[in-house]
Amino acid sequence: MPEEYLVAQELHKSFNEQKAVDGVSFAIYRGEIFGLLGPNGAGKTTAIRMMSTVLEPDRGDVTIGGHSVRREADAVRSQIGVCPQELALYEDLSALDNLVFFGRMAGMSGKEAHDQAMARLELMGLSERAKGKVDKFSGGMKRRVNLAVGLMGHPEMLFLDEPTVGVDPQSRNNIYETIEGLRDGGMTILYTTHYMEEADRLCDRVAIMDGGQIIALDTPYELRSQIGEPDKVTLEDVFLKLTGRSLRD
Ligand SMILES: Nc1ncnc2c1ncn2[C@@H]1O[C@H](COP(=O)(O)OP(=O)(O)O)[C@@H](O)[C@H]1O
Ligand SMILES: [Mg+2]
Repeated sequence: MPEEYLVAQELHKSFNEQKAVDGVSFAIYRGEIFGLLGPNGAGKTTAIRMMSTVLEPDRGDVTIGGHSVRREADAVRSQIGVCPQELALYEDLSALDNLVFFGRMAGMSGKEAHDQAMARLELMGLSERAKGKVDKFSGGMKRRVNLAVGLMGHPEMLFLDEPTVGVDPQSRNNIYETIEGLRDGGMTILYTTHYMEEADRLCDRVAIMDGGQIIALDTPYELRSQIGEPDKVTLEDVFLKLTGRSLRD
């Protein structure tokens, strides 16, 4: 049996009486890429913010590596890296200085932060632009720096919220390959997207979210098999079948 590394139980969150996340439960196995898939407004970001200790659930709990986000937030934070949907970078600093800054904030020595920053930039194919100011970077390069920040401190688990939105094809491929490489190295990854083909290609298992709830959860292949010949249907078709609506806005 695979080890359940993250367990979410009955998560609820409302904003002004409106339910953003409405009773979500699932488990993520250690070492898998798990996709949270759904249209804009489905509740993906709200769910990821509760799992990564940024937002307190109204009800329910999440454990990561056995630690509760409610009662042991510090222990959870020491195990995770987060790449938020909204880029969190200092535009007037270089890519290297951004990473060093976040490393120092996390308590690393100057040398350790510098060494890790250079290794992360190399992984993201940005070594040559290390000293370039972020405000001169393309959208895709900024996303790659954002991902590099999430990897500072060797997290066991990485949360990626829509890492390929507004990204050119070269950066997108770099991001896919990086995520697969991290998974192959043993990292557990939670990934949100509203691109169905992307989830199909990358994720070991996906949960499809709509209206704050999980409406299906399985491997992409199994989900496709449930509605037709798996090689002939897409996750887009699965969403349409389950909701009667197309995923695209
Ligand atoms: N901070 C907030 N204040 C008020 N409403 C919010 C807030 N964050 C999210 N929402 C609402 O909650 C719902 C789910 O949003 P979100 O979790 O961002 O979905 P997704 O990431 O799937 O697009 C949406 O209706 C959104 O408008
Ligand atoms: Mg979102």
